[in-house]
Amino acid sequence: MLLPNVKNIVAVASGKGGVGKSTVAVNLAVALAQLGLRVGLLDADIYGPSLPRMLGLARKPDVRGDRMIPLEAWGLKAMSIGFLVDEDTAMIWRGPMVMGALEQMMGQVEWGELDVMIVDMPPGTGDAQLTMAQRVTLAGALVVSTPQDIALLDARRGVKMFERTRVPVLGLVENMSFFCCPNCGHRSEIFGHGGARTEAEKLGIEFLGEIPLLLEIRSAADAGTPIVASAPQSDAARAYRDVAARLQAKLEGKQGHSGGPRIVIS
Ligand SMILES: Nc1ncnc2c1ncn2[C@@H]1O[C@H](COP(=O)(O)OP(=O)(O)OP(=O)(O)O)[C@@H](O)[C@H]1O
Ligand SMILES: [Mg+2]
Repeated sequence: MLLPNVKNIVAVASGKGGVGKSTVAVNLAVALAQLGLRVGLLDADIYGPSLPRMLGLARKPDVRGDRMIPLEAWGLKAMSIGFLVDEDTAMIWRGPMVMGALEQMMGQVEWGELDVMIVDMPPGTGDAQLTMAQRVTLAGALVVSTPQDIALLDARRGVKMFERTRVPVLGLVENMSFFCCPNCGHRSEIFGHGGARTEAEKLGIEFLGEIPLLLEIRSAADAGTPIVASAPQSDAARAYRDVAARLQAKLEGKQGHSGGPRIVIS
């Protein structure tokens, strides 16, 4: 198994693309670091890495011997294929190369001891999901969904995929949950609201929180300054911190008792 010195590896996943996985992964990682945990953030999206832009990092990692040193920013250690090759190169890779790149980013990177590693997964259920399920012991997956039914259908698929590979689903996060008008404060539920909570209940999965749809979240992500760090007093930061606290409690609960299957395939 790779990453023996990481206590908890958490995959941030969804069935569908563009629901905000990367934004959740980055802000959640920063929030966990603010809680005092030693946090790593791994970009498992080989075809479309998001971390360089969202963390504002453009340099190449140093190499020591045959190992790479992860980049550090916002209190965490991070690795992405986007630090190493330009996006167009990674775009043309095929399955086995994707799996190889991902394995290297786990096995040949000097992560050191970590309390938690957040893994930003690519959309869907492909090679990267399988690699993660097979090569590391995942504490579990956190599934991100928007409130629309169609996205929820895909979230269900994401949940099922992890169940099939026997990775526990730690919980569901509803992203773009509601919109608050910055001028008048009126709350609009653009994509409906609460769908993920209802769905989580139906699936017997914990609901870990909801993140509002906010211009500042998008602009902070684009600027490479995660909102949890750049505007820690904002409503948005508070929403991510709530999810982080629930996740931390969940991970500690898991460590507290030996019950519950710790399942690894391969
Ligand atoms: N709560 C939010 N409020 C406003 N904008 C958001 C929010 N969450 C994500 N976004 C924006 O939506 C876009 C898609 O988000 P992101 O890249 O995190 O999605 P993803 O699920 O990782 O996508 P992919 O499937 O392509 O990896 C980004 O421009 C991001 O800034
Ligand atoms: Mg992404």
